[in-house]
Amino acid sequence: MRFGRRSWELREAEATPEALFLERRKLLGFGAGALAAGLFGRAAPARAAEIDGLLPAKANTAFVGDTLTAENAATGYNNFYEFGFSKGIQAASKKLKTAPWTITLDGLVDTPATLDVDDLLKKVMLEERVYRHRCVEAWSMVVPWTGFPLADLVKLAGPKAEAKYVVMQSFMDPSVAPYQSAPQYPWPYVEALTLAEATNELAFLAVGVYGKPMPTQNGAPIRLAVPWKYGFKSAKSIVRFTFTAKRPTTFWEALGPDEYGFWANVNPKVAHPRWSQASERRIGTENMIPTRLYNGYEAEVAGLYKGLEKERLFM
Ligand code: MTE
Repeated sequence: MRFGRRSWELREAEATPEALFLERRKLLGFGAGALAAGLFGRAAPARAAEIDGLLPAKANTAFVGDTLTAENAATGYNNFYEFGFSKGIQAASKKLKTAPWTITLDGLVDTPATLDVDDLLKKVMLEERVYRHRCVEAWSMVVPWTGFPLADLVKLAGPKAEAKYVVMQSFMDPSVAPYQSAPQYPWPYVEALTLAEATNELAFLAVGVYGKPMPTQNGAPIRLAVPWKYGFKSAKSIVRFTFTAKRPTTFWEALGPDEYGFWANVNPKVAHPRWSQASERRIGTENMIPTRLYNGYEAEVAGLYKGLEKERLFM
């Protein structure tokens, strides 16, 4: 295990569905190859990819104290506007070819690079983390992501002293993602974090989910998971990480600055202009549960915002 138990981790006994799923893997002696070969019905990728040899990653077990969302719910109810404006974009997203996949690190860095995601995976250590995932639309899930800390990628890039932000850009290809032809949207999808946020221990780059390679609808082959922020901050299918001194305008901020700001930290007390954020619908259960400040990760992240109280931190 990469880390000792952290405050955001859940005791193994609390993660019943996950424990069962890990136990099943152990009993069946599955290596990643077996999973990749589609024993659970998943289609094999276009070519052998590094990720297939790395899964399942060691679980950083114990995590958030909530019951996992069923896999078919988390992978069947998605926001991925490039492929449509409904939650049912799984089939459409299969058109995205995710291998080979190249990532560029550029901007204010010592080591600009363009590398295949497979090569990136050789430079990091994968682990599994269960995170709460709270969408600005007032629904939530509890998801086991496999990935590595965003801080590891920041370290690889080596930001220069002037760099203050890391800007993440999703793929751009209207020939596979027809909604990218919608002219009223500022494609490609762009999100950003301050470097302090990006190097917080919770900021995670996920390449798998439920012990399997990331499905296209959830942002294959690599997407962000920043669980203390509304889900729209977690850009999917990222192709570029650019380090900048200036704060960029992000995708949703450009579309609706009064509704979707740069910071977008979860706060039950700050309503969206059109709905309350006080509670959330837990997908798969239909239970309404109270929303928590920073989505329950206050201990880990509140310190990031000291001195920034005048900013619109929760919008
Ligand atoms: N990334 C891209 N490129 N395009 C999107 O439309 N939607 C965001 C985020 N990342 C989105 C995106 C929103 S609004 C949410 S809630 C999450 O992805 C949804 O992630 P999930 O489908 O894995 O639950």
